[in-house]
Amino acid sequence: MSKQPMILDHPLVQHKVSLLRNKNTGTKEFKELVSELAMLLCYEATRDLPTEEVEIETPVAVARTKVLAGRKLALVPILRAGLGMVDGMLTLLPAAKVGHIGLYRNEETLEPVEYYCKLPADIAERDVIVLDPMLATGGSARDAITQIKKRGARSIKFIGIIAAPEGLAKLHESHPDVDIYVAALDDHLNENGYIVPGLGDAGDRIFGTK
Ligand code: PRP
Ligand code: URA
Repeated sequence: MSKQPMILDHPLVQHKVSLLRNKNTGTKEFKELVSELAMLLCYEATRDLPTEEVEIETPVAVARTKVLAGRKLALVPILRAGLGMVDGMLTLLPAAKVGHIGLYRNEETLEPVEYYCKLPADIAERDVIVLDPMLATGGSARDAITQIKKRGARSIKFIGIIAAPEGLAKLHESHPDVDIYVAALDDHLNENGYIVPGLGDAGDRIFGTK
């Protein structure tokens, strides 16, 4: 089944993305904004989680009300920058397990190189949410999801913050079954594979490495 990418146009999301883009935003604030955006995107990406009805005694009466139906979830941040999104996601999904996949882009070819992969042993039984703030050429997200599928996962979503049209198209073509949620769709990639206008290098800005 082929699904359309979702670009969140909520005012809070747009406001926070604008702050994130600003080159004068420092590491501490940048990290906080990435985490807050992850939380807001998580809210939207989990809209279809199944619920079940339970009876709860309020101080006034018995209420028939809904709780999550206990679906097993796994978060998989793409190292490094995806790590910045984990805390925000876990704030809303505290029972989710966390796997890690390490990929870096070869600076010349822009092709992703995998250097680490550790996923929950029962990943095949979990709904997986892959996290990476930047979807540029789309190669990292494509390869990360290919690896996760090889280990048996079938239900996968991708949450990012800024996407380039090229990245969205590549991810959608490679994995049409994957729901994609991002906060902004930018204009294009420059000759170095950076998203324009983008926000620069997400990993460096989160971890203060430049
Ligand atoms: C960045 C970013 C994505 C990737 C996106 O990571 O966090 O993982 O680039 O680019 P793509 O869509 O063209 O693959 P980078 O390779 O810079 O590694 P880092 O997070 O360790 O800095
Ligand atoms: N990775 C980043 O961190 N930023 C970009 O613009 C592209 C890839």
